[in-house]
This record gives sequence, C-alpha cells and structure tokens, in this order.
Amino acid sequence: MKTLHEVLESADRGHTAVGHFNISDLVGLKAVYEAAKALNLPVLIGVSEGERDFMGVHEIAAVVRTLRKRDDFPVFLNADHTHSLDRAREAASAGFDMIVFDASVRSFDDNVRETREAVQQVKSLRPDILVEGEIGFIGASSSIHDERPNNMSPLTTPEEAREFVSATGVDILAPAVGNMHGMLKTMLRGETEKRIDPARIAAIKAAAKTFLTLHGGSGTNRSDFEAAIRAGITIIHVNTELRVAWRRGMDAALAQKPDEIVPYKHLPQVVTNMKQVVRERLELFSANVAVPPSG
Ligand code: 13P
Repeated sequence: MKTLHEVLESADRGHTAVGHFNISDLVGLKAVYEAAKALNLPVLIGVSEGERDFMGVHEIAAVVRTLRKRDDFPVFLNADHTHSLDRAREAASAGFDMIVFDASVRSFDDNVRETREAVQQVKSLRPDILVEGEIGFIGASSSIHDERPNNMSPLTTPEEAREFVSATGVDILAPAVGNMHGMLKTMLRGETEKRIDPARIAAIKAAAKTFLTLHGGSGTNRSDFEAAIRAGITIIHVNTELRVAWRRGMDAALAQKPDEIVPYKHLPQVVTNMKQVVRERLELFSANVAVPPSG
C-alpha cells in the first residue's frame, strides 16, 4: 500500500486533491471511512486538539491503524491544528501519520521559529511523519458564524511561502488564499459561498514547491475548488459541513422516533447524512480537472 507521501505525490501529479474530513467520534469515522472505501479513494481523517481530547489520542490512532491494516486501505490520520510542541509529540508517539502544526496567530518570525522546532522534534521521534505548517490566520472554529472574523490575515504572498517552507522544513504548507474556517449563516442558507484565489495558489505553488493544503473547505464555490486543485492544492479540509450533516441527521432521527432510546437505531440516519457530504466532496476532489497547456 502507498504511504501518505506517495498518495500526495500521485494526487499532485494527477491534479486531484485528497479529502481531509474532521471527526469527533466513531459515527463520523464510520461515515468518512465507508464513503471513501465505496469510492476506493484514499482519505485523511482529521482530529483537532478538541476532537482528540474527546476521542482519546491513542484510541483514535489504534482504530485508524486497525482499519488500514485489516482492509489494506489508504486511510491516514492527521493531528489537525496542533498548537503546542507537547501535543505534537504526543500525536507523533501515538502513531499519527501527519501533524498540522498551527502557530498561524503568531508573528511570521515566531511562526517560523516554532514550526521549525516542531518539525525537528516530531521528525526526531518519527522520521516518516509528515508535518504541515500554516501561514495566515483564517478564523479559528469550524462552526456557524454571523459574519467573517474581522482579524483575518491578508492573503499569503509567494515570497512568504518560499521563505517559510525553506526555513521550517515543512512537508506541506497551508496558505491563506481567500479561505476561512467555518460557515456563515448566509452560506447555510445557500445565499453566499467562499471564493478562493487560484492565481495566488499557482504563484505560491511555484514559489514554495511543496504540497499545499486548502483549509476551511466548507461552503466553497464548486468551480473555485476545481480551480484551486488545478492551481496546485493537494489536500482539502472539510469539517463544518460534516458537523451540520451530523446535527441535521440527529435532529431528524430524534424527531422521527421520539420514544426510541437505542443509539444504534438513531445513528444510521446521522451516518447516512454525513456520508453524503463526504461522497460528494470526494467525487469533486478526485475528478481530474483538465490542466490548460502551459506556455
Ligand atoms: P471548515 O470547517 O470550514 O470546513 O474547515 C475545516 C478545516 O479546515 C479543518 O482544519
């Protein structure tokens, strides 16, 4: 079976993106894993610090490792938005495949210094682990917002991206390119969408020459996703859309059977809702969008 690095290389070469979906529990894992398996597409499971506090760092690592081994299937585990060296080392020791080290709220220089330290420390524990760094604050939470946070960073420049990657040694870079964590209420109502800057992505890719991740995928315009992948995005994160599907599925299940107390009689409805989101996103991310000839 391919390693995560090989999976990313082949997505990069083929101008497709690998879907990364955050989960909080085994219901979410079941939905993401079954959808990826049905499509036979590699997938990244993401757990932020809060999500892994709830699930248990070693518990989720053991479950994902067991699924991968049992089914010989490329499912990988990412320690999403890791803010401290302790939490980074903890995830590396537990066997995570990848760590997103997130010092993006710091100044550029502090971000470089802390991320370089994280890369060195986790790679000394596990030389095979992949580390992603982030430039630019794009909002902190995969939840529903009234309006865009007013402290969002400006778009990442190609020069910053080049300097950050060469100074830190990250394998993957998450730039700010118009993306934002979470969804606005207007996005939930289908009135607005996130818009991404593909020209900026292409310039960053040319300068940084590394894998690029698009965070904040929920609520993004469909053709912007395609353009972003064409421009050089290799991983796309989706969380809020899955949380919305979880909540709506749960509300519907409870309303349909108000007297039912058996969890596994309510939860299939939740899995079905979440799976639909994962399936649609994976189909879009894996579709090879024709790349215009250069020159
Ligand atoms: P959304 O919640 O906007 O999809 O962002 C998810 C994310 O980027 C997690 O790292």
